[in-house]
Formats: sequence, C-alpha cells, structure tokens
Amino acid sequence: MKDSGDLIKIQRVEKSRLPETDLRNIKFGTIFTDHMFIADYIDGQWQDPRIIPYQPLAMEPSAKVFHYGQAVFEGMKAYKDDRGNVFLFRPEKNLIRINRSAERLAMPRIPDEYFLEGLKKLVDLDQEWIPSEYGSSLYLRPVYFAISNEIAASPSQDYRFIIIASPAQSYYTGEVKVKVEEHYSRACSGGVGYAKAAGNYAAQFLATEKAKKEGYKQVIWTDSKTHEFVEEAGTMNIFFRIDDTLITAPTSDRILHGVTRESLIRLAEDNGIDVEVRRLTVDEVMDAARDGRLQEIFGSGTAATVLPIIGIGYRNEYYELPKEPKNPYAPKLKKMLMDIQYNRAPDPYGWRVPVVTKS
Ligand SMILES: Cc1ncc(COP(=O)(O)O)c(C=O)c1O
Repeated sequence: MKDSGDLIKIQRVEKSRLPETDLRNIKFGTIFTDHMFIADYIDGQWQDPRIIPYQPLAMEPSAKVFHYGQAVFEGMKAYKDDRGNVFLFRPEKNLIRINRSAERLAMPRIPDEYFLEGLKKLVDLDQEWIPSEYGSSLYLRPVYFAISNEIAASPSQDYRFIIIASPAQSYYTGEVKVKVEEHYSRACSGGVGYAKAAGNYAAQFLATEKAKKEGYKQVIWTDSKTHEFVEEAGTMNIFFRIDDTLITAPTSDRILHGVTRESLIRLAEDNGIDVEVRRLTVDEVMDAARDGRLQEIFGSGTAATVLPIIGIGYRNEYYELPKEPKNPYAPKLKKMLMDIQYNRAPDPYGWRVPVVTKS
C-alpha cells in the first residue's frame, strides 16, 4: 500500500466551523465536521482520493443512484479517550462488509487503502470535533453510489465513494417498546438484507411509522416466509435472554452481520455467559415471557451499542420485561464493550485501531 501521505491529497477549510458549534448539544446525525473524503471510480479506474471541505455534491438528475438506488453505506465510530487518543473500532469489519454490500449491488470493490486511510486521515484532520465524554463519539458514514448519467436499469459505469463525519453524543432513545412485525419484511432469502443497501432502510420506514402510531419505537423483523422466527430489531441485531442464556439469530442473507453483535457474542462467551446462536421463534419468546423466564431483550448496533428493550407487543398481547432482572447482561456487556472502545480497559482482542496517539 502506498503511504497515505502520497495517496490522499488534502484541501483544508479556510475557516473551521467548530468554534460556532456546541458539541454538548447536538441532535444525532445533523452536524458534520469541516471535511469529507471523496474518490471517484471513472472509466474502470479508481482515482483522485482526496479530502476536501464538507460541501454539496453536484450531480446530474440522470445519475443512476437517483433512479435505481445503486448505493451502499456503512456506519462506524471514532472514540476519544481522556488523553485525546483516538481509535476506530474494528474498521476492517466495515471494509469487508461494504465490499460485500457492493458486490451484491454489482458495484466494484473499494480499495482497502481508500476506505481505511480515508477514514484515518479524515478522523485525524477533524479530531477536534470528537467530543471526549464517555459515550460521545464521531459517527462516520462511508457512502458509495452510482453516478453515471443514464436512465437505463443496468449497473453504473462510474461511482463515487465519500466519507462524512458527524459528532455524536451518547445515544438515548427513551424507553424502547418493540412490536413483532408479521406483515412487512425488511429482507427475504436471496435478497439484499445482509447488505447495507440504502434502499433497505427506505423499505423499513412504513412499517416502523405504523408501529410508532401504536406506541412502539421499533419493529422486530421476522422471517419473510413464515413470520415465525425473530431476525432483527429496527436497524439493530437482537438478543434475547431466556433464563440465563443469551440467544441471537445466526446471520444469513436476510440478517446484517453486525460488528457490535459479533463483539458482544465474544465478550459474553469469554465472560461466562451461555450464548446460543440459533433460530428462535416468536412463540418461544412469548412462551418464555408468559412463564416469567424472559429476562431481557436488547438490540445491538454501532449507534446505540446496546439498547435495552422494555416491552414487546405481539398480536393482541403486550409483555413488559422485568424492570430489574437479576444480574442484568445488557449493561454489563455494554460497559465491557465501551471500555474497550474508549481505551478504559485492556483490549486482548486487538479491536481498537489507533488513529491519533497523544500518549
Ligand atoms: C439492519 C441492521 N442490523 C444491524 C445493525 C448493527 O450493525 P453494527 O453492529 O455493525 O452497527 C445495523 C447497523 O449497522 C443495521 O443497519
């Protein structure tokens, strides 16, 4: 790999917007740092990777992404410790995933160094934007899309890959109740559920809006064929604790291979928690709830890390989870994971990737 000093050109902003930004008072995903990474794939060649001031993109109305949704993205974070050291968390997993997503949408591979060095250079350049409180972070959004100007339902010739960054405070969504969805599906076998295809998210909105009208925050997606098996919750993977066993669905072509999910499974297993990665029916969950054996449900994902769920609705039934389960797993696993992300605990797994090293 070429030295990123040569590879990625940097054009700095003349004046930072940071002094007029209040990092203690931000709505998730609404404020963006001074710079962005951008690179194009034109005529079969990746070219001109650079960092430029954050700005609007000029695109023709005929650009393929607007018509056929040929777009994939990633979501990850940079974490700052008390001394100003900054880390990424398992970025190679996101690199693998974006290229798996790209392959599914017939898009060329993003070169490893564009993705990894693009992230590092951008985070390094905009490091002052990263809030240092435990729980706050810099959310990173790589996005990759089709830019050929042609109305024809076939893969684009040309593409653009960008990375933008958004300071984020610790994620609080209030009390989360979820509804088991039995009509709509976010993914089907042979489809694109395992990819972070932009259109997957648009396809979730209607079901989620309907559930919100009924007082829920999110839906639990079930398998599209029978609606008997639980798969994901909103845009998170999902874990159930029945008695003392943690159960989560195996990843498949309908389930996103979550980096948080994989990390939590490892932490749980290494800390004496029984984990079963297996298919789980809604009936099994509801039977356990009725018998008082369902102790916890939580979602897992980069944005919220671990999000405890307080209640689950299924058909005409609504079940509230124990307010104080004995020895709760969710806060314990969340703290273990965050302590690694924020450099507060040793990292025996090598998950932290340093970007800025102060001491
Ligand atoms: C559908 C879906 N499931 C699960 C996840 C959690 O994945 P990760 O832990 O890598 O953020 C996400 C978020 O990226 C998602 O969009």
